[in-house]
Amino acid sequence: MSLQLNRTTFGDAANKGNVLSKAEAEKLFNDWVINPRLQLHMKQVAHLMKSWAAEKENLNEEDQWRWEMAGLLHDADWDQWPDQHCKKIIEELERRNIDPEIIHAIASHGPNHFGVAPETEMDKMLFAFDELSGLIHAYSLMRPRGYDGMELKGVKKRLKEKSFAANVSRDEIDDACQRAGVPLDDLINFIISKQGAVS
Ligand SMILES: [Fe+2]
Repeated sequence: MSLQLNRTTFGDAANKGNVLSKAEAEKLFNDWVINPRLQLHMKQVAHLMKSWAAEKENLNEEDQWRWEMAGLLHDADWDQWPDQHCKKIIEELERRNIDPEIIHAIASHGPNHFGVAPETEMDKMLFAFDELSGLIHAYSLMRPRGYDGMELKGVKKRLKEKSFAANVSRDEIDDACQRAGVPLDDLINFIISKQGAVS
């Protein structure tokens, strides 16, 4: 299911830097997202975004939270309003005068579904983490020790098996890596090293 957003600008430039507090973001998250598996996915993507912002982009804590917030809320409307994904969360954040960069990241996390191209590093990494995070989590669930001892080659083997996590688009993963300018192996290794902390 996908909805073309039919616009390319989101939020108001005057709201740059405006964020939800962590408590506000958690309240929105808990009010809107019911499915525990989706909650976990969103928390994992949030953690990857924060970690990448800190370690690869060397951003300060304020900016790390902007990245984390985009990850935490990117699928917030999927559970209860799948036919309005991701229009509803965008409109909610616009109503709350949130930083347009955070809203743009959410709007562009599925360029082939919503028709909005990722532009900033935040946009590109949210798109890149989204699908790959899910596949690696699925792999962790079939391993006796989860993320412990997980290796790059194991993930790549699963990627080649079309029947494994069949809903995860391999083409989208390739597309996302190219747009982000990050080699697939680096991205997989980063996720392996971080994602086990949120499970
Ligand atoms: Fe997602």
